[in-house]
Amino acid sequence: MGEKRVAMITGAASGIGRASAKKFAENNYTVALMDKSQAIQALGEELRRSGADCFEMVGDVSSEEDVKAFVETTESYYGRIDVLNCNAGIVVVKPLEDTTYDEFLRVAQVNIGGTFLFHKYVLPIMKRQRKGAIVNLGSVSGHVGQTEHAIYGATKGAIISFTRAVAWELAKYNIRVNSVSPGSVDTPMLRGDIQLESTRTGMPFEEVKKLREAEQAFNRWADPSEIAEAIYFLAGDGASFITGVDLLVDCGWVAK
Ligand SMILES: NC(=O)c1ccc[n+]([C@@H]2O[C@H](COP(=O)([O-])OP(=O)(O)OC[C@H]3O[C@@H](n4cnc5c(N)ncnc54)[C@H](O)[C@@H]3O)[C@@H](O)[C@H]2O)c1
Repeated sequence: MGEKRVAMITGAASGIGRASAKKFAENNYTVALMDKSQAIQALGEELRRSGADCFEMVGDVSSEEDVKAFVETTESYYGRIDVLNCNAGIVVVKPLEDTTYDEFLRVAQVNIGGTFLFHKYVLPIMKRQRKGAIVNLGSVSGHVGQTEHAIYGATKGAIISFTRAVAWELAKYNIRVNSVSPGSVDTPMLRGDIQLESTRTGMPFEEVKKLREAEQAFNRWADPSEIAEAIYFLAGDGASFITGVDLLVDCGWVAK
């Protein structure tokens, strides 16, 4: 292979995005990382220390200006984008009638809005290359009815259907578009969820955790690296005949 491949990963400062950034960097990809958290800079430094090529930027995936600047700068540094992994996401866990319209708009803006903006700005580059692979983040919430997750689940369902449509739109440019739908993954997002449920119900954190672990057939949560494996597979040449797919990495949750 000639040039080193470039993987662009959003929401890379924490959880699944961080594990994905590490996986691509360890496998000799150049990584371009964006997150709204300043912690992205420490990850960039860590990856460079371990020998990886890396560019990171603090930015908001729901800001068109930030997305445009990040994609343009990445292209000016590396001249290509082979992989786009749209990870950045937020959740609101509340009874529906307690959810404000502003909360609804924010979850939609970040989850589906951010995914849309990244496609919009990366696609011209991938089309020019006539090659690319995109992996979006769905969720079991896009497949099953999860109590108090209606808005979040709606955005994840939207990401799954967006992925299917874009896969067809881009097939003629040799660009594959897939999504991964994790079950419960041990990240700050999930722990925040459990903490809220524990506070609301008065059940101890560990008890709520046990209940939520039982949604997986192996009775445990995933490590973020187990989701990164699936993202890495779908982004790579081994998945050359896979497009428009949502890959459940949920340890049987939806199969039950
Ligand atoms: N953890 C789970 O159990 C689980 C399950 C299914 C799907 N997911 C999905 O996986 C993805 C990653 O989740 P996670 O659990 O690793 O969460 P996390 O909270 O640990 O990490 C998310 C990262 O995204 C960043 N981010 C949030 N909003 C942003 C914005 N507007 N602009 C830029 N960066 C932003 C955060 O700063 C954070 O670093 C999300 O899309 C989430 O919906 C997670």
